This record gives sequence, structure tokens and C-alpha cells, in this order.
Amino acid sequence: MIYLNGEWMPIEQARIPVLDRGFIFGDGVYEVIPSYSGNPFRLREHLARLQSSLDAVRMDNPYSVERWDALVREIVAKNSWEDQGVYLQVTRGVAPRDHAFPKGVKPTVFMMSNPLTTPAQELRERGVAAVTIADNRWLRCDIKSVSLLANCLLRQDAVDAGATEAVLLREGFLTEGSASNIFVVRNGVILTPPKSNFILPGITYDVVIELARANRLPLEIRQVSEAEVRDADELWLTSSTKEVLPISSLDSKPVGHGANAGKPGPVGARMYQLYQDYKRTVMRAPATV
Ligand SMILES: Cc1ncc(COP(=O)(O)O)c(C=O)c1O
Repeated sequence: MIYLNGEWMPIEQARIPVLDRGFIFGDGVYEVIPSYSGNPFRLREHLARLQSSLDAVRMDNPYSVERWDALVREIVAKNSWEDQGVYLQVTRGVAPRDHAFPKGVKPTVFMMSNPLTTPAQELRERGVAAVTIADNRWLRCDIKSVSLLANCLLRQDAVDAGATEAVLLREGFLTEGSASNIFVVRNGVILTPPKSNFILPGITYDVVIELARANRLPLEIRQVSEAEVRDADELWLTSSTKEVLPISSLDSKPVGHGANAGKPGPVGARMYQLYQDYKRTVMRAPATV
């Protein structure tokens, strides 16, 4: 079952008017929230990021945090999969086509849930291929906007090159992936760029940073140069659906050095384990908003 503007229905029955500004302009924002065994993960943080995205595009939040909380739990309960990825989207609504914001229009609210398949052990042990691509997106990559054409083009360039993800570089520095944040390990130190308008503030990114700090793993949040990316001991991508996934080749060259070149490294394996342990802890005592 999906949710559309206050009603529940099978997805095949869901309809939106063609003048919805999400369809015409990509004028909307979204979230993807993983749910494990019926418990939405980091729901409060996802709803806070939704609020930031809405604020940034000057849209009122149609619902209170409590209502969102209840809706996310309801869609999880209405679907049968053990682990789910809840997608929610808010667009500015339906209006005659004009770039300037319409007045008095009700936002369109859509939610669906899909089975969540996190990367299998075999893939984690092999790692994925990535390619570097110049980050040609706009300057508000911190907004989780449904206008994802640039991300789609970058991701397709990666796929055309036989890779899973695009590692994006802007003026000689790492930003993020086309649909993930990127972490680098050099000499035992975890490196990742700071939050800015150039990257999406990933919920997984935050968890990884918290876990590194809590477990006293050396961590530096700072600009990471292209040379540091290319000479990394380890590279990982992080996202709600990919969790912590090693990148084992970059531009067809093995990531890492010596005997470990081309193989996922120990720091990433540790972080993956910490992430799984953390998930289990949270599921035992689910947080409410
Ligand atoms: C561009 C981009 N960066 C980072 C992320 C990771 O964010 P999160 O950890 O909240 O899934 C995503 C997630 O889809 C993304 O699209």
C-alpha cells in the first residue's frame, strides 16, 4: 500500500495531476528511511533533514513530526517485508505552469515502501568499482531535492564505465558519490569532507562519524584532495540502503596498497561491524521522535 495526500491505496491506483510541480519542475524534496524489523532507523534525524530541505526550498511542512512519525510506522506496518526502505516525497503541489511559487496551493505528499536489500556479504567482501567524475551539480547539494537529473547522469556515466558509483570531485577535492557519501582511509585515519552546500548531510555519514568517535578510531573531517582519494588505503561509500560498502577499484585501478590492493580493508570491515552492532542496539530500544 502507498500513501497519497491522506489516502492509502495500491500503487497502481495512485494518480497525480500532470501539473504537479514535482512532475513539471522537480519542485519537491524527499527522504529514504530504512526500517529494520518494524523499527524505522534514525527517524528523528530523517525528519529533521526533511525539515531542513523544506526550509531551504521555502515550503511549509505539511505535517507535524508526530504525524510523520505515525505515517512512517503505519506504512511499515501495512507492508509485509521484514526490512523496508520507506520513500517519502513532498512537492509544492498542483498549479498552472509558472516558475514563481503559486499561492494557496496544497503540497502533494506521497509515501511508498519497498523491500530493503542491503549489500550481500559476497559483495561486501569483493567491494564495488567506482569511477571519478567531475561534480557538475548545482551549489545546493545539501538539499535532498527530487530534482536528481544531474545525479542520474553521473550515476549512468559510472554504470556505462562498468562501475557501481561515481566518486565526485569538485576543483580538486572530494565531494561525495552520486547517491552516497564517501569515506577515505589513509594510514589508519578516516577522512571525509565536512558538511557544506557541496554534499548531502547523510544520515549514515553521521552514524559513521559518531561510531568512529565513540570507538576512538582516528578521524579527520576536512577537505580531502583528489590525490588523497587516488592514493587511499581504503575507500567506502555510505548510504541508508548501501550501509558501509567498500570501493575496491577506482578508475579501474585497485584501491589500496601492497598485498591488500583491490581488497576491502580492515578499517571498513570494523566500521561495517560497528554499524551492524549499533543497528541491533537501536532495534532493541527503538527511539521515538
Ligand atoms: C547525493 C547523496 N549523498 C549522500 C547520500 C547518503 O545519505 P543517507 O546516508 O542519508 O542515505 C545519498 C542518499 O541517497 C545521496 O543521494
